Amino acid sequence: MEFKEFIDIAKVRQSCRNFDPERIVDEEVLDSLVDAMILSPSACNAQPYFYHIVTGDKAKKVRDTLTGMGMNSFVKNVNAFAVVTEENYNLTAKIGSSMKNQDFKSIDIGISVAYFTAEATTLGLGTCIMGWFDEDELKKIVDTKSRIRLVIAIGYPSDDDFIREKKRKTHTAISKFIK
Ligand SMILES: Cc1cc2nc3c(=O)[nH]c(=O)nc-3n(C[C@H](O)[C@H](O)[C@H](O)COP(=O)(O)O)c2cc1C
Repeated sequence: MEFKEFIDIAKVRQSCRNFDPERIVDEEVLDSLVDAMILSPSACNAQPYFYHIVTGDKAKKVRDTLTGMGMNSFVKNVNAFAVVTEENYNLTAKIGSSMKNQDFKSIDIGISVAYFTAEATTLGLGTCIMGWFDEDELKKIVDTKSRIRLVIAIGYPSDDDFIREKKRKTHTAISKFIK
């Protein structure tokens, strides 16, 4: 698939619920997603996050932390994950966030994940961003004391994973001009 406009990527980026268990994502490809993510903007350029790219046997352990109460059962076929931890601000971001009472870290993490998943889409990969996981167990697996904010499942979509129609708020419900 060839993309000429960002809107084309946005239209086909979707939460993949049907991963192909046979196709493993190469490490170079996973690296290239991180390279795209690094280009994302963040408050005071602090980039207050870290991407733990988990593959192999450790990925199997990650899967167990994502399921439970009927959630995320589709990850059974996923062999690669990005576990995104929240890290420190730099001094200016810390001061700015405190003075303006804004949680820039969450915003920065969200933007970085958007870049990561958009790049994955351009490469024909499927992703699913997940906020439901057993944080304590996951911390042990990736060996961190930092807060884990999101996990991204990464793989190739199955042939029968069709592009779904987007269900979204209408343009006027979500945006207006103020002149
Ligand atoms: C912060 C965040 C957390 C999410 N957590 C989960 C999750 O734990 N499990 C899941 O199946 N989908 C999760 N999703 C996916 C959303 O349900 C999905 O993005 C939304 O329904 C829009 O669908 P689309 O991604 O296919 O366009 C999450 C998405 C975001 C942005």
